[in-house]
Amino acid sequence: MEEGFKELISKYQGSQSLPRQFYTSETVYKMDIQHYWNHSWIWVGHINQIPNVGDFFVFDYGYESVIIARDKNDSVNAFLNVCRHRGSRVCIEKSGNTRLFVCPYHAWTYELNGSLRAAREMEENFNTAEYSLKKVNLRIFHGLIFICVADNPPNIDEGLLQLEPLVEPFEFENLKIVHSANYPVAANWKLALENYMECYHCAPAHLEYSRSHSLKDPSSANIELKNCMLKKSMDVGLSGEELHINLLESNNVEMDFYFSRYPLFQGYKTGSKSGEKLAPLLGRLKDFDGGTSDIQIGILNNFLSYSDHVIGYRFIPRSLQITDIEVIWMVREDAEEGKDYNLEDLTWLWHCTSQDDERIIALNQKGVNSNHYVPGPLSNMEWGIKAFHAGYLKQLEEKTNINS
Ligand code: FES
Ligand code: FE
Repeated sequence: MEEGFKELISKYQGSQSLPRQFYTSETVYKMDIQHYWNHSWIWVGHINQIPNVGDFFVFDYGYESVIIARDKNDSVNAFLNVCRHRGSRVCIEKSGNTRLFVCPYHAWTYELNGSLRAAREMEENFNTAEYSLKKVNLRIFHGLIFICVADNPPNIDEGLLQLEPLVEPFEFENLKIVHSANYPVAANWKLALENYMECYHCAPAHLEYSRSHSLKDPSSANIELKNCMLKKSMDVGLSGEELHINLLESNNVEMDFYFSRYPLFQGYKTGSKSGEKLAPLLGRLKDFDGGTSDIQIGILNNFLSYSDHVIGYRFIPRSLQITDIEVIWMVREDAEEGKDYNLEDLTWLWHCTSQDDERIIALNQKGVNSNHYVPGPLSNMEWGIKAFHAGYLKQLEEKTNINS
């Protein structure tokens, strides 16, 4: 099979959509999880979801499930949700507070840090210390929690260091999640991610978004708009710099990182229906600059930071052609609902936009399922997809070589 896969990769000509099998083959899907997702850093949540000892949440993707919990020493740990006895899922709840994790099958009992505390009726020489839940790599960046299940995860630290001065004024560590919504779509995860990576579709598909966001229009008028905004950005305390690390071009960073602030149209302070503010200013920002920042921390983790709220996106594979588009809204942690923000206004734009995306991504999958689909050429506005394809294929090729 892996031979067939290599042939498939070699057929890909670049600058076009992927061959059909990448979106329709169960074998490719299994390889995606095993060789791409399991070797990627994934954004799973915010530290403010687990403020107290015993707080936990579970993050699932593909065939994997990971528990993220705060232990008795106040440390946050991540470990696989796979029992070391005979492999059952240990934790069934999605989130909560607990003293211990007890496997529902034969009641092996684990501590909050994943170590095995007790197992019934085992041989006398059974050593609990050898049967902790498997640790998963974890990084916390300004309150955002990332995990990677690989034994040798890609180097995330170098890129985070470069991103640090650009995101620091927003004080992401002082955010709280106020709403999350799931838009399940009947499509392969790559189609959902690819859709997010380009704004070629924004003008025809997103009426509401296009009214206020300039990204849908790459014309020269926007360069002027952007320069004008950047001046304001620096006045309000943002750096005005951009960051673009492509892993194929970088020697010492093993992931893609991207940071760019782009302008909203005149009259818009933030991504609201009226143009007016939606919540209190984030972090140390002194005022609204009329912009929003596109932030990518590895291809799979995308954020949009307005001056008063942050949106996080995930495109989580559930099966070959089922993907959960998860959208998460965050505001500063001291903001009060009803007084400082209201959820309906806050979520309006990206709720409509995600519904549009759900529709167009499902149509994309239907077309690609046809035996008559052939990969088509990408436009200049779809450069993000080219970068994704290059990195994705390189990673799959490397990992399948190692494993064959
Ligand atoms: Fe967990 Fe048996 S599988 S205790
Ligand atoms: Fe879209």
